[in-house]
Amino acid sequence: MALAERPIGVFDSGVGGLSVLRALCAELPNERFVYVADSGHAPYGERDDSHVIERSRAITHHLRQQHDIKALVVACNTATAAAIHLLREELAPLPIVGIEPALKPAAATSQNKRVGVMATRGTLQSEKFRILLEGLKEKAHFTLQPCDGLAIAIERNDTTKIGALCAEYTGAMGIFGMSSGEMDTLVLGCTHYPFVEQVLRQYIGPDVQLLEGGAPVARQTRRLLEAAGQLAKGLQQPSGRTAFFSTGDTQALMESAKRWLRWDADVTALNI
Ligand code: DGL
Repeated sequence: MALAERPIGVFDSGVGGLSVLRALCAELPNERFVYVADSGHAPYGERDDSHVIERSRAITHHLRQQHDIKALVVACNTATAAAIHLLREELAPLPIVGIEPALKPAAATSQNKRVGVMATRGTLQSEKFRILLEGLKEKAHFTLQPCDGLAIAIERNDTTKIGALCAEYTGAMGIFGMSSGEMDTLVLGCTHYPFVEQVLRQYIGPDVQLLEGGAPVARQTRRLLEAAGQLAKGLQQPSGRTAFFSTGDTQALMESAKRWLRWDADVTALNI
């Protein structure tokens, strides 16, 4: 198949990467995607790096061997922090795009220069995040909140748990609001969290700016493909433009795609 017509591989520890896939589909209407939810091995955020690296390698290997992908999007902050440098070394010249918590746009746009950051423990403890934060510490004050259990509660659509954890974690960060000294910006540093935006709003109020990373990732993917002359030409039909795979509960991915994106996703079980 011509290089430009091959699909783009996208993966996450589970359903969270659908928030990135949504942005990719909007930005790149001519492209086909293969999405892998590693739900059988989630969560990544509370496991050590070796687990995340091993899973990232296994999924990427599968995407290359079975789907002949032309580019890879790591739609997971935790996997990006732990593994993207290795994937780039091992898979060059494959174009690879990762995601990082939106601290830079937060520092640039927060009026009060006070920003809350929700992410997994793995992301917040990573070297990559430490460097990102270090470079911005003169620009804004960041309050970091590891959100143990939240991604898996979203994975399971456990609404009671989601409500309790969102209340606990936003409460632990301090006061959100637009008055001076309050946090007027909240960074959603895990791709699962955009799906509970409505719940978070109950605790932080309607005016606080919420930032996620899907749209910048989609724009960066477009730039890389454009530069490589690999953008697909023909417009894809919405149905069938993404092949969905899950290493865990296929029904859960199907239901998440329906609930959050209004997509009818046919999900195939994947045993890797
Ligand atoms: N969605 C992943 C991220 O963006 C993490 C969820 C998990 O802990 O598996 O970091």
